[in-house]
Amino acid sequence: MQLFLDTASVTDIRTMWEIGILDGVTTNPTLVAKEGRRFEEVLREICALGVPSVSAEVVATETDGMLREGRHLREIHPSIYVKVPMTPAGLRATRILAREKTRVNMTLIFSANQALLAAKVGASYVSPFIGRLDDQGQDGMELIRDIVQIYRNYKFPTQVLVASIRHPVHVLEAAKAGADIATMPYAVMEKLARHPLTDLGLAQFLKDWEKVPKA
Ligand code: G3P
Repeated sequence: MQLFLDTASVTDIRTMWEIGILDGVTTNPTLVAKEGRRFEEVLREICALGVPSVSAEVVATETDGMLREGRHLREIHPSIYVKVPMTPAGLRATRILAREKTRVNMTLIFSANQALLAAKVGASYVSPFIGRLDDQGQDGMELIRDIVQIYRNYKFPTQVLVASIRHPVHVLEAAKAGADIATMPYAVMEKLARHPLTDLGLAQFLKDWEKVPKA
């Protein structure tokens, strides 16, 4: 399973990249706005680290504008995946971009039928937002299980990228459901490595080691 960071913070991305557990990065306009920096500059810095998959979102709402922005974004670096929203205009744009061999991440997916359409137009990734569904009282993870099953039934090559992850249990459940990718905030990725028993065990080992004769 691939683990992505959902952030536009180059500092956070560099930290996880250097540890060696990072497979990719997703950004969105909200995350980019938080950094207060020029979008392209941020994208170039992330790609320069060597991250092999970096999703960058278009902000146009009509197909022509999406195509214009998508074609521009893909020229920035070969690692760029163009993120396109799930709308009729987005489906049209994705179909054209996919035929031009541009890798598209269809975003703002909230139903299995939307994911089915994204696969049909050739999206490389589909991004269902599970945390936002949970917030509405719907089971976000059920959507992931449905999409994984549908893609398996028809052997769609589109990868399921679980987005809007809020805590480590979301990552665990996504892995159990067979999702291809989980994208998460830095704080969630950090928590994946931690367990209080690990800390306690290590402290005890170090304490006991002091009792071992050294010479
Ligand atoms: O990048 C898209 C998605 O992960 C956003 O998450 O927490 O804003 O629902 P959130």
